Amino acid sequence: MTDSATTVGPMPMRIEARQWAEFSPRELEAYAELRATIDFGVPPYTWTEAAARPVRLLGWHGDRLVAHAGILVREVRVGDVPVPVVGLCTVMVRPDRQGTGLGAAIVRASFAEGARQWPEAGHAVFVCLESRVGFYERLGAHRIDGPVTFDQPDGTHEMAIVTMWRPLAKGATWPVGRAHLVGLPW
Ligand SMILES: CC(C)(COP(=O)(O)OP(=O)(O)OC[C@H]1O[C@@H](n2cnc3c(N)ncnc32)[C@H](O)[C@@H]1OP(=O)(O)O)[C@@H](O)C(=O)NCCC(=O)NCCS
Repeated sequence: MTDSATTVGPMPMRIEARQWAEFSPRELEAYAELRATIDFGVPPYTWTEAAARPVRLLGWHGDRLVAHAGILVREVRVGDVPVPVVGLCTVMVRPDRQGTGLGAAIVRASFAEGARQWPEAGHAVFVCLESRVGFYERLGAHRIDGPVTFDQPDGTHEMAIVTMWRPLAKGATWPVGRAHLVGLPW
């Protein structure tokens, strides 16, 4: 996996791509500590479990975890067409570091790592609150128009928040048709 350092804000952030299954106790602790500071405000769906979000981008300021994003690969359907996508999830920046460019850096690194790991996926797809759409549009993402559906233990549901896509392959466009995420949302 690729590691990188990016200087945003007052100090450099070191970004590592890691397998969730290989997290050390220290990484698990740092993740839990960061996660506890974040309220995603998303609907109470059954979301994909942690192990099904296998690759994590970790952004460090020294030994402090300040940013995190998860990526996975999934074959969604648009109309009748299967579309392999990189799913982006659990994007979070430590509240006292938000607004300093770390979120943009970890999301860019996630798109790059997803494209590197799963070159068959020409698009990234993720859900977000309306209040985050501007953040992701600045990073090249677009809304998926029309109802987007996904699976829950009790059947198919319609996504109540925004679903966005972003090209990973050069020139990729989003296909026309009704999108179904095929499985639990992420
Ligand atoms: C959303 C979040 C990841 C953004 O990270 P951040 O580090 O605060 O954002 P950045 O500083 O990298 O912002 C990058 C750019 O987006 C802009 N931006 C940030 N949040 C925005 C928003 N809600 N709407 C519009 N633009 C926004 C910034 O002004 C900045 O613009 P610039 O490039 O012109 O300077 C962070 O606020 C967070 O962790 N929030 C809580 C968890 C969450 O909601 N995660 C998203 C789940 S989908």
